[in-house]
Amino acid sequence: MNLLPSLLLLLLPLAQCELLFVAVIWRHGLRAPSRLPYPLDPHNETAWQRGWKELTNEGIKQMYDLGLWLHNRYTVENTLINSVFNKKEVLVLSTDVERALCSAQSVMASLFAPEGEFVWKRGFAWQPVPIHSYGEDRTDPLLKPTDFPCPAYDKLMTADTHPLQSVAESNDQLFKELTKNTGMEVNIKNVDDFYDITREMAHGLKQPDWVTDGLVDKIKEFKRIVRTNEFNSPVKARFRGGYLVGDWHSRINAAANGEKKAKKAVLYSSHDGTLSALLYTLGVANDQLVPHAAAIIAELHREAGKDFVKLWYRNETSAPTSDPVQLTLPGCETSCHLATFNAIVAPLTLNTTKQLEELCSSGSPFLSSLFLAFILLYVAISR
Ligand SMILES: *[C@@H]1O[C@H](CO)[C@@H](O)[C@H](O)[C@H]1NC(C)=O
Ligand SMILES: *[C@@H]1O[C@H](CO)[C@@H](O)[C@H](O)[C@H]1NC(C)=O
Ligand SMILES: *[C@@H]1O[C@H](CO)[C@@H](O)[C@H](O)[C@H]1NC(C)=O
Repeated sequence: MNLLPSLLLLLLPLAQCELLFVAVIWRHGLRAPSRLPYPLDPHNETAWQRGWKELTNEGIKQMYDLGLWLHNRYTVENTLINSVFNKKEVLVLSTDVERALCSAQSVMASLFAPEGEFVWKRGFAWQPVPIHSYGEDRTDPLLKPTDFPCPAYDKLMTADTHPLQSVAESNDQLFKELTKNTGMEVNIKNVDDFYDITREMAHGLKQPDWVTDGLVDKIKEFKRIVRTNEFNSPVKARFRGGYLVGDWHSRINAAANGEKKAKKAVLYSSHDGTLSALLYTLGVANDQLVPHAAAIIAELHREAGKDFVKLWYRNETSAPTSDPVQLTLPGCETSCHLATFNAIVAPLTLNTTKQLEELCSSGSPFLSSLFLAFILLYVAISR
């Protein structure tokens, strides 16, 4: 008996389920604080091997582990991409911030370690992989949208009361003690900055006695409230996440349509605010802080001739084997039919920096085009 035909039949359902495209955006790994966290802090810059703001060895390890996980998921479990880097398949984008660039390099080290003819030095399992960035002297509207000048967003934020206003009175004593211990005036406007203490703790730096577990929990909570408040409404989120959603929307559709320029994988190295904005824009946020090395993933699958989008959040980062959680776009199934995905996502997109600038100056790219149309009509009529 010939087993081959029945084997092929068995394989058929598998062959019908194909992964066509993936977009992955991660937050850089663990890092040093941006500056001395507070005047009386016993840990100055010499405590950080690469200096303020930079990735640490722990952070590099996290990103390397993410690269291993991506390697396994997209070159072994699914053979979406080749296990050696191929520029026709893969595009790597990073902000121009050093910790993001170094994070991208750390991911690439394990995702695309050289094999076979790509080994260029015996016993050295590393090869260079191109990483694109927007340039040091410009704000990156796609991957560092939180720095993009946006008056309409600023106006919206200053109109609100401070997110910690409601907890100010009940924490008055705490702020007084912090002022005494840190050597600086502490109030609701800066208390979330002490989040840097958690960076020190994550790197095993010894804390003074006044840094209790209770205090650390409070500071984490203050940080969570302040940070999520920057993105936690559809209107706020679109200013910061709309352009990236537009980019994903267009790349997913380019892959579905088999466009020549379409990549199989686009990988983005960025920052917590960028990931938070994306989660809130898509309506899938969990109101928590985005952990270091966390990744948001969109996959395009073709199953029996139909295209589906699946979203994942890999926010558990402790090991290369950590599983992601699946996210469900509001109004869609977990496996979201591409047409439905497009219908839900299109209104959230911004497709060009011009549209972003328009939204940021007027509050609505639609309104300003409408306005322009009226002017043109007026000019036409009055001639
Ligand atoms: C920084 O900290 C180290 C270790 O505590 C200390 O030896 C050094 O003098 C400090 N440097 C400055 C500039 O304060
Ligand atoms: C990860 O995200 C899921 C879904 O939002 C949430 O339930 C979980 O608490 C998060 N875990 C971490 C470590 O952030
Ligand atoms: C962005 O492009 C998509 C696809 O063409 C479209 O559906 C969407 O409305 C566009 N968004 C804006 C703000 O023009």
